[in-house]
Amino acid sequence: MRTIAVAAEKGGVGKTTTAVHLAHFLAQQGKRVLLIDIDSQGQAGEFLGLPDEPRAGMYELLLHDDPALRHFRRASELVMLDVRPGLDLIPNDPRIAEVEIQLSRRPRPYPALARRLAELKGYDFCVVDVGPTVNLVSLVALYASDLVVVPMAPGSGKSGARGLTRRLEAMKAELGTAPAVLGMLGTLVNRREKIAGELLEELEGLGPRNLGVIHRNTALAECSTKGQTAFEYKPRSRGAKDYEAFGERLLEKLEGVTAHA
Ligand SMILES: Nc1ncnc2c1ncn2[C@@H]1O[C@H](COP(=O)(O)OP(=O)(O)OP(=O)(O)O)[C@@H](O)[C@H]1O
Ligand SMILES: [Mg+2]
Repeated sequence: MRTIAVAAEKGGVGKTTTAVHLAHFLAQQGKRVLLIDIDSQGQAGEFLGLPDEPRAGMYELLLHDDPALRHFRRASELVMLDVRPGLDLIPNDPRIAEVEIQLSRRPRPYPALARRLAELKGYDFCVVDVGPTVNLVSLVALYASDLVVVPMAPGSGKSGARGLTRRLEAMKAELGTAPAVLGMLGTLVNRREKIAGELLEELEGLGPRNLGVIHRNTALAECSTKGQTAFEYKPRSRGAKDYEAFGERLLEKLEGVTAHA
């Protein structure tokens, strides 16, 4: 299983939209995909149209991981199967704030998620929606990931990407391992805006780490409120086409990564 985090230290840059569309795209390509949501807002489930009701998920996965505990839950018991064909989800909810506190009391909190994901078999990809906050839970998510995709929106992308890159460097120095940045993805791009031009220039300067552009698109803005991805809501929209092209580029890049390994 390849674990891909979608992360940036910036709010509202399209992380959840990207994570959900990437996961759905990969599932539509016949891959077995697990989507996990570690952002306290728990929006990935909402995006996929799941009813807003209490259910076990990341909280149980990260805290009740000791088989000696009465409430121990196997990772496989916490997975919602086939929220779309080929796509499973471990949902999240605001109780993740308690996880932050509990993990901070542990002597070695970092492998908390990696260890639990290792219990799950049969997936080609795990896609992780990481929240914008610099906290222990997001560090635990990054520690469990092999690769990171960093969304960058006009006007706010640079600092979010820079902050994240710095955090990964610190993680490598401190913990001896960190996921590799696969690249940056321009999001919410309106080519008529000057500020978008600056982002596009910046992306071009990144060479192979330029993962392309997702344009600002009404179908993408609307689809989450319909509980659908753009592939379902408006499959012919520019948003759906952009995420399809991104997914294809990412798969091509990953084949290259395997070839070099
Ligand atoms: N390409 C796009 N075109 C139009 N609207 C978009 C696009 N991408 C995302 N949005 C909308 O912008 C808002 C922020 O997107 P999203 O929730 O994916 O960002 P985020 O980085 O996950 O935010 P947060 O930091 O709060 O978790 C949402 O309302 C979403 O529907
Ligand atoms: Mg989000």
